[in-house]
Amino acid sequence: LNYHVPRTRRDILEILLKGLRRLEYRGYDSAGVGIDGGNSKDWESNAKTIHLIKQRGKVKALDEEIHKQQDLDLDIEVDVHLGIAHTRWATHGVPSPVNSHPQRSDKNNEFIVIHNGIITNYKDLKKFLESKGYEFESETDTETIAKLVKYMYDNRESDDINFATLVERVIQQLEGAFALVFKSVHYPGEAIGTRRGSPLLMGVRSDHKLSTDHIPVLYRSSGKEKKSCSSMPRTDQDTCLFPLDEKAVEYYFASDASAVIEHTNRVIFLEDDDVAAVMEGRLSIHRIKRRVGDYPARAIQTLQMELQQIMKGNYSSFMQKEIFEQPESVVNTMRGRINFDNNTVTLGGLKDHIKEIQRCRRLILIACGTSYHAGVATRQVLEELTELPVMVELASDFLDRNTPVFRDDVCFFISQSGETADSLLALRYCKERGALTVGVTNTVGSSISRETDCGVHINAGPEIGVASTKAYTSQFVALIMFALLMCDDRISMQPRRREIIQGLRVLPDLIKEVLSLDDEIQKLATELYQQKSVLIMGRGYHYATCLEGALKIKEITYMHSEGILAGELKHGPLALVDKLMPVIMIIMRDHTYTKCQNALQQVVARQGRPILICDKDDHETIKNSSRAIKVPHCVDCLQGILSVIPLQLLSFHLAVLRGFDVDCPRNLAKSVTVE
Ligand code: G6P
Repeated sequence: LNYHVPRTRRDILEILLKGLRRLEYRGYDSAGVGIDGGNSKDWESNAKTIHLIKQRGKVKALDEEIHKQQDLDLDIEVDVHLGIAHTRWATHGVPSPVNSHPQRSDKNNEFIVIHNGIITNYKDLKKFLESKGYEFESETDTETIAKLVKYMYDNRESDDINFATLVERVIQQLEGAFALVFKSVHYPGEAIGTRRGSPLLMGVRSDHKLSTDHIPVLYRSSGKEKKSCSSMPRTDQDTCLFPLDEKAVEYYFASDASAVIEHTNRVIFLEDDDVAAVMEGRLSIHRIKRRVGDYPARAIQTLQMELQQIMKGNYSSFMQKEIFEQPESVVNTMRGRINFDNNTVTLGGLKDHIKEIQRCRRLILIACGTSYHAGVATRQVLEELTELPVMVELASDFLDRNTPVFRDDVCFFISQSGETADSLLALRYCKERGALTVGVTNTVGSSISRETDCGVHINAGPEIGVASTKAYTSQFVALIMFALLMCDDRISMQPRRREIIQGLRVLPDLIKEVLSLDDEIQKLATELYQQKSVLIMGRGYHYATCLEGALKIKEITYMHSEGILAGELKHGPLALVDKLMPVIMIIMRDHTYTKCQNALQQVVARQGRPILICDKDDHETIKNSSRAIKVPHCVDCLQGILSVIPLQLLSFHLAVLRGFDVDCPRNLAKSVTVE
């Protein structure tokens, strides 16, 4: 929304489309935009109609559709203009223009809304609205929101009811997760955004100095708005509005900072049930009631993220770039936290809680997808260094089981995005039971980082490719650092601690060495890309690598792949092995070496011709294999970082050879904010 900043409609659409392109990695089976309709020079009259353009497919398809619109003057320049846009990842209803967002209240587009999340009680709401004569056109849960806001408007008690109040009433009826932005022909130049469970932030751009760095929250009690707190910065006499004097200002709503960062680095993260209203160029934040522990103002934060960080650079895809960034991203995870000279580890985000964690009954690591594998990968070293029982749980299953959790448990939530709905729900579940909660995330300001008691930020930098790579290795390193911190005063552990810390020191160089195998791995991919299936076997520290490698292959190549614990080989998977089935085996020189050799013999005895990922100095194993990817040796508990990279590269090359979009695999989203 630009306020007193002259812009052509083309500019506005370009800002929206650019934002969508940056978010495309989150979900992308269709896209849509809703903007002021008329072609006059008077913005208010333009805002009395809304023009909707929606298209199935990628943002590019929407862009083309926009340029086909006959009745839309793209060169018209106005002072105030509001547009909202969305990319959709289908949950209710197939990808199609009618199911795309914005969803509308009626054929005249009186109210439109965009939504990220799922409304779980939409069927009841729909039934109610249908009984009142509202006709539905899509299969989406979101359409009920558009109809509901119109219902609130149609049944308003007075004509001067404001837009934010209508939206407050709407969200009181909604169950589930949502981030919403509304626009209406009845409220020209006004935008309302709100969230519960799904992320939503606002960007503010103004050439003037901002009058405050906090937006006070306005609480409504018994229908009357109350100022939150007298000590909060005041702006107007009776209301706490922002900004104070400056007229020219632009506001952005987005579910991810990457969509707004090229326009402004000043952002406000909204909290659950905040209703943010932009009216006459001013922003106010409303809430129905105050939550326990809620700070009665929202800070305007300055983000340090830079645009080039989220651009592709010279790589063909974000995933490839992120794989090759790992020598630096692991350094960023360790930066300022490890002193390699005196073998100490400091984690600022845990320092106030470490004593409590050391006294706990057990550690529970909870996550989804790749982040879960980071838990599996580090479980053994956590058990070794903390001498505590460690459970590693998939968030969805953990919740399904109503797993018992106690006050003296410490629960870790590992999540790249910090927004994964299952992990977030598990976090709230553990909090309710009084456990101490620790976040391990890559996104400052994310829901998980905010809702946990303490945490470690992995500092891997933005990860855009849907298939997670550098976040995995950084999560791995972060969890190892935590394990090291837990035993820093245990004399008996010091030799082992030193060994691991010195291993971390050389890790970036060893990662570079593995990345130099890229050509060789690409060659291997050309031999494998037409196969239907790939098995990946290993055990001990490398079981997680097998799971993670198989997940990478499934995600982006659509080949079947299975990560198999070599210890379970003879209990079933061996039946899959014959001379045709590609089998990748990870054999490293650690305490499972002899057992891995047995597994290798079992596979070879069934005419299998395994491809090995092994220690470059293990001449014996290399001699007996038809093909070996030779990786450098490092401390056993860090070796999993080196064994996973060849599989990241392999999945990448397989996907390219199979002709698939590496960054945007079908049916998947980067950040799954629905249960
Ligand atoms: C999605 C992504 C995966 C990711 C998982 C967990 O499924 O496609 O790459 O591992 O979510 O995401 P998180 O952000 O919680 O790590």
